[in-house]
Amino acid sequence: MKNHIFQLNRRQALIGSGAAALAAAAGPAFAATTNMKDALRMLAGKVFYSTDQPGRWKGKEAGHSPLIKIDKNGSDILLRAATQHPMSPQHHIVKHIILDGELNFMKEQMFDLTFDMPRSRFELNGYSGRLYVVSMCNKHDNWINWADV
Ligand SMILES: [Fe+2]
Repeated sequence: MKNHIFQLNRRQALIGSGAAALAAAAGPAFAATTNMKDALRMLAGKVFYSTDQPGRWKGKEAGHSPLIKIDKNGSDILLRAATQHPMSPQHHIVKHIILDGELNFMKEQMFDLTFDMPRSRFELNGYSGRLYVVSMCNKHDNWINWADV
């Protein structure tokens, strides 16, 4: 599994807004970029993070990058994600979000810090292609990883 290094504005990417909003949020240098891939690359390690692009959270990779396991049985797909992160009222994982290969929202699982560990399961039967998992920490922002089905 390879870590995802796309760069995307966390808010726009997670809720599916367009490139114009992304460019406006990132400033003049970003707005001059016409290629979305280049634009997204500029935001990795700044707005969202991965093990390859930990940015200001360098050293926090192991506890924040979501681990992904895919079980496939014919067209039945079960994605399991885990973040190796403590759950306390002051510092915890808020949720896991699943995005498709085009970064469209598919599913999410919120965590109740009283009862839950930051582990999630998603049935994605019939899906094929790339899947992104975003793990949202209340202190250390959004961390992304990917898997191919
Ligand atoms: Fe954290």
